[in-house]
Amino acid sequence: MSSCLSSLLDLKTLSVKTIEELFSFAQALKEKPQSIRQNGETVILAFFEASTRTRLSFESAAIRAGLGPLIFDGGLKTSLEKGESVEDSLCNMAAMDPKILVVRCSNSVQLQDLASKLKVPVVNAGWGTQGHPTQALLDQLTLRSKWKNLEGRKLLIIGDLKHSRVAASHLELAEKTGLKLAQCGPQDFLLSDSKVPRFEDLTEGLKWADAVMALRFQFERHDASISFSKDHYREQFGLNRSSLQNLKSDAWIMHPGPINHGIEMETEVLSDPRSIVLEQVRHGVYLREAVLRMTLGESL
Ligand code: CP
Repeated sequence: MSSCLSSLLDLKTLSVKTIEELFSFAQALKEKPQSIRQNGETVILAFFEASTRTRLSFESAAIRAGLGPLIFDGGLKTSLEKGESVEDSLCNMAAMDPKILVVRCSNSVQLQDLASKLKVPVVNAGWGTQGHPTQALLDQLTLRSKWKNLEGRKLLIIGDLKHSRVAASHLELAEKTGLKLAQCGPQDFLLSDSKVPRFEDLTEGLKWADAVMALRFQFERHDASISFSKDHYREQFGLNRSSLQNLKSDAWIMHPGPINHGIEMETEVLSDPRSIVLEQVRHGVYLREAVLRMTLGESL
């Protein structure tokens, strides 16, 4: 019996079985395209914040599934300029009867409340610092394609976990998949109220890990209380040819993007044979196609 997804706002509420179905469906879509829906159905991609990967990935996924993507990109030349609220905009989009509403927005939007009122399934495509479920799913799908089973494998997340929606979703997902997480970075950036073990020292963390994920240094989310300079960060926690000598030869290097070259990661890292940064992007299309199709009741 397959699972039908309703709204996907976080990963806490997904069962282990549904996650496994999503992974298997995405893997099958990667190996062989499936039949295309031909009913003139639409999906609205409502992006109130900047995006390259997630927006284009959902757009590709929609086209592969036969859903016409209608794109609201950033709000320029829209009624947001006349003072319409994000909430009113989303209610009006839902009234156009798309099959799914994919939303990227800030913390100030009450997405959970809104989704419970709308008659359209809502997919979170990055919601402030609260979560980015499809990013965590595609990251772990990429690792699963390497290892087959995530249970007991070790992922070190480096950097600004406190402000990272990607990290927030990985914590929720790891509870279900059995992936072991650890964190490494300056004190101001780490999760203090979490059970995720910490490495103060990057070298120790890299030796422990089966995979490592550098997070973006999120300038836009830092206030005056953050005392860490980017030069200091690069010196202590940056991934480069030298620091990566401490990583196992069969471990994997990841980044959700976009990368600040020369801060959390040097450009040379992308040509390390252990880098799977672009494989993450590729898996994103299939994973999101699986999310869209399962939301519409399809299964393998
Ligand atoms: N990883 C990610 O969310 O990238 P974008 O902001 O470009 O969508």
